Amino acid sequence: MPVSTDSHPESPSGSPLDPPSESLSAGNEILLAIESTCDETAAAVVTRDGRVLGECIATQEKLHERFGGVVPEIAARAHLERILPVIDTAMTQAGVQGEDLQAIAVADRPGLAGSLLVGVVAAKSLALAWQKPLVAINHLHAHLYACQLSQPSGESVYPAIGLIVSGGHTTLYLCEDPINLQYLGGTIDDAAGEAFDKVAAMLSLGFPGGVEVSRWATRGNAKAYDFPRSKLHDGSFDFSFSGLKTAVRYAIVGPGRQDFSSLELDDSTKADVCASFEAAVVDTLVGKSRKAIRQHGVKRLLIGGGVAANGRLRRDFAAAAEQDGFQLVIAPPELCTDNAVMGAIAWKQIDRGQFATLDLDITPGLQRGF
Ligand code: KG4
Ligand code: ZN
Repeated sequence: MPVSTDSHPESPSGSPLDPPSESLSAGNEILLAIESTCDETAAAVVTRDGRVLGECIATQEKLHERFGGVVPEIAARAHLERILPVIDTAMTQAGVQGEDLQAIAVADRPGLAGSLLVGVVAAKSLALAWQKPLVAINHLHAHLYACQLSQPSGESVYPAIGLIVSGGHTTLYLCEDPINLQYLGGTIDDAAGEAFDKVAAMLSLGFPGGVEVSRWATRGNAKAYDFPRSKLHDGSFDFSFSGLKTAVRYAIVGPGRQDFSSLELDDSTKADVCASFEAAVVDTLVGKSRKAIRQHGVKRLLIGGGVAANGRLRRDFAAAAEQDGFQLVIAPPELCTDNAVMGAIAWKQIDRGQFATLDLDITPGLQRGF
């Protein structure tokens, strides 16, 4: 089974990115984290003890709205325009300068190639200019680490089963610690968030669709349509949401029709479709996660990623946790969608001496098992 403990070569001796010889555990330690994996340009200045001194997120929702999904080329260009002002804003808010940083961390995988490239090039340039060590973050590990950041006591939330539900991923891991994650299964087609976005597009609810679908769902009947819970009982930890998407399409326009532009549905039908679709997605996520907890004997579940902000998901997982007796830790809503604060996971890599070099390259990593 693939293990997603991907590391990068350590700095060669004499490189400007050599980790400092003295321990970074002395007080007042801060790092700059950069995130540009998809359509959010984000930077944050975070301390080792979990405080956020400065943060800036520039979203691109308006740019992609009329396409009903993220257009990679547009995303990359927008990152390019925004990355330096975003970093500057976070640093100014924190009241720090390059020389005050212990390290610069950047998400280099997985994500859209053009988007990743902008963040990675910016981080490498600043690391070289400021002579600071560079840390390469796995964006998916960071999404789960957002759960750790929600613990006021700082008590470890590992080991755990980790579920990532985002626009690009629906993945289950066995998490030994923040960095050692074993891939258990993932979607074989669409990610959960992608399905939310596509259903929203069919119903002309706007983009990104997750928030809109969940808003309409609160007024609908979740039993109105009997949508499929694909792969729920197939014994694997894989997911599939493309059949569900097709079932929604057939429910609203019938087979064969691709054009939704002239579709006129009354509000109660829209609400029922949203509620029934949302229930089908959440039932599948809950069912597979419960099975992973049972099978691996781990009594804790972490959930991160944009879809983890969904109200039904949070309620149904809370009910399952109570019934099955496991601890549930869902990332706080403001840390579910893409952000740079979760880049605080870089401290864990610094502690293990996992630094990157100026050779750092992007890994879009869209294959299964990442
Ligand atoms: O984690 P994220 O910001 O980006 C990726 O790494 O992909 O997740 C974005 C996804 C989008 O598909 C969006 O529609 C979905 O998260 N999302 C939601 C909700 N809020 C955001 N899906 C369902 N319910 C929500 N409340
Ligand atoms: Zn993400």
